Amino acid sequence: MDSLLIKGGVPLHGEVTISGAKNAVLPIMAATLLTSGKCVIRRVPDLSDVRFMAQILKSLGAEVKVDGDTVTVRAAKLNPIGDYDLIRKMRGSICILGPLLGRQRHAKVSLPGGCVIGTRPIDLHLKGMRDLGTKITIESGYIDAKAKRLIGADIFLGGRAGPTVLGTANVMMAAVLAEGVTTIESAACEPEVVDLAFFLSKMGAKIVGAGSPTITITGVKDLAGVEHEVIPDRIEAATFAIAAAATNGEITIHGARPDHMHAVLDKLKDAGVKIERKGLALIVKRGSRLKPIDVTTLPYSGFPTDVQAQMMVLMALTPGLGIITERIFESRFMHVSELARLGADVSIEGPSAIVKGGHPLSGAPVMASDLRASAALVIAGMAAKGTTQVSRIYHLDRGYEKIDQKLASLGARIQRVDQE
Ligand code: EPZ
Repeated sequence: MDSLLIKGGVPLHGEVTISGAKNAVLPIMAATLLTSGKCVIRRVPDLSDVRFMAQILKSLGAEVKVDGDTVTVRAAKLNPIGDYDLIRKMRGSICILGPLLGRQRHAKVSLPGGCVIGTRPIDLHLKGMRDLGTKITIESGYIDAKAKRLIGADIFLGGRAGPTVLGTANVMMAAVLAEGVTTIESAACEPEVVDLAFFLSKMGAKIVGAGSPTITITGVKDLAGVEHEVIPDRIEAATFAIAAAATNGEITIHGARPDHMHAVLDKLKDAGVKIERKGLALIVKRGSRLKPIDVTTLPYSGFPTDVQAQMMVLMALTPGLGIITERIFESRFMHVSELARLGADVSIEGPSAIVKGGHPLSGAPVMASDLRASAALVIAGMAAKGTTQVSRIYHLDRGYEKIDQKLASLGARIQRVDQE
């Protein structure tokens, strides 16, 4: 099992280009199931989650070709049952439910696993499908969804933590081929949902309001294959910006969409990070003094939960008291105990983490627990004195394309080692 060996204390300098967004490409790959036409998706990041999704589409009978950052899919004929083990392994695979229902009114997929950040229920996904006329039974770990007809409906999709990103994606993908008009109230507004809606509209779907809490979909008879370039990954861009500030370096980030990053850039500026826009590039460096801040994770356009762990590292380096409140997932502080091994002083009070920052970090062996926590540990290792070994970095490879190579090109002393 691979791990990353990091010799800290080196400020990052240089230029990095952001890859396509994992959380846009997964639902868009699923959406190719809605047509028998050929779909070509560009700026696809080389991630294990993407390779997984490609395998899932193939297990459903689609032809899938991956050529560099371009994925071509033709789902000419489909079988309604996905590969149980494959689907169970990746939470994001739940977003094949909607397109399978939309295309052939039947889907049998395994219940997605929870993960370390929370139970990850899918009650809202199933509520949306039922509202469209689907009969759902759950037996021996499978969701078996059947609909004689999909009829447009008014669907409220808000849950205890607000909107659901993949729930909104799933309902949208079922509703585009339903009869009549569907309104999704309390829809997720994330840029990845907007990118999916753009892809579906290019296919011929009629969608109004994507990016707002109310999305209206008028069902059509069928959809065509299209070409599409995926939006850049705002979470990867935020991760690199924080890494530059944490290591007291200065980097230029190419290919990001600053208009998708207002909450993160705003909080980084509050924290004393200097951010300059040069054309379409972002130049990020630590200012003269880092300042303690408080952060609350919220649905978009609030501060993204996927940047919470990385931000905690910057706060751990900042003299003073910082507070992070996690409002989206019930247990997304797994990185706190690992950061403590590096000398961070963080205590958890319910949904909040109190960060007593300013202690210098020193390297130690740490273990990744989930995708974004792994990124936080890498940032902390680069900021710490001495050597840090981050194990179980398969978590990292799920969502960051060649992150060790990108960081090494910015001067980080980081190498991938094969831990027995
Ligand atoms: C997406 O997950 C992202 N994953 C997550 O990114 C991201 O953290 C999350 O949205 C929130 O922004 C992908 O897009 C592949 P949710 P998703 O449904 O859609 C509750 C990463 O690191 N909920 O928006 O699964 C849920 O428990 C990953 O890239 C219900 O209660 O998240 C959570 O508290 C991690 N019932 C909240 O809603 C439901 O039916 C938001 O979850 C669905 C969700």
